Amino acid sequence: MNSNDGHDTPIHIVPPRAVSESQSQMAEVVLPNDANPLGNLLGGRLMHFIDIAGALAAHRHSHSHVVTASIDHIDFRRPVHIGDLLILKSSVNRAFNTSMEIGVKCWVENYIAGTKQHVASAYLTFVAVDTRGKHKSVPQVATETDEEKRRYEDAGRRRELRKWELGRKNAVKS
Ligand SMILES: CC(C)(COP(=O)(O)OP(=O)(O)OC[C@H]1O[C@@H](n2cnc3c(N)ncnc32)[C@H](O)[C@@H]1OP(=O)(O)O)[C@@H](O)C(=O)NCCC(=O)NCCS
Repeated sequence: MNSNDGHDTPIHIVPPRAVSESQSQMAEVVLPNDANPLGNLLGGRLMHFIDIAGALAAHRHSHSHVVTASIDHIDFRRPVHIGDLLILKSSVNRAFNTSMEIGVKCWVENYIAGTKQHVASAYLTFVAVDTRGKHKSVPQVATETDEEKRRYEDAGRRRELRKWELGRKNAVKS
């Protein structure tokens, strides 16, 4: 019997997957409906795009349905205007048991001048689930480049910080 929804091979013998296998890119032209009265992209709309871009890499890494467990702190470094071409790139930094940390970086590309400006970055955690919402194991990440190795290590430290913060919040509630 195969308990891994969508997989022909049991997940525990699925080999680690390279970061490059799930790297994703998405492009959006900012339209008036996405903007505030000053013509700047709404922060919530950018978060929506970040969530979708992150989910693309999480789906591709896990070959599974996923849910967003958390989005870390986001800095909006500069405004994005109506008509701008927004590029979002996502990749898996590290996989744990059922969860994965995905990094998303957003740029505005000026296709006339041929320049790019970094506008925001975020780390998201996605949890793989089957069609009934039950958590599923995810394949580990095989790092190849120095940059991927650095992100992998940093993701481990951020997971510890998240766990600590979650524990602190739960202690305050009880
Ligand atoms: C996220 C969710 C799946 C976690 O389920 P849970 O049963 O509370 O969590 P568990 O303690 O079993 O942890 C499952 C995994 O999620 C991770 N996790 C749980 N809460 C987390 C959080 N706030 N941030 C990051 N990771 C989190 C755990 O570290 C664990 O990872 P691991 O298996 O790789 O070690 C659950 O809370 C949920 O379904 N939330 C709603 C998701 C959703 O609808 N998102 C869209 C936003 S509207």
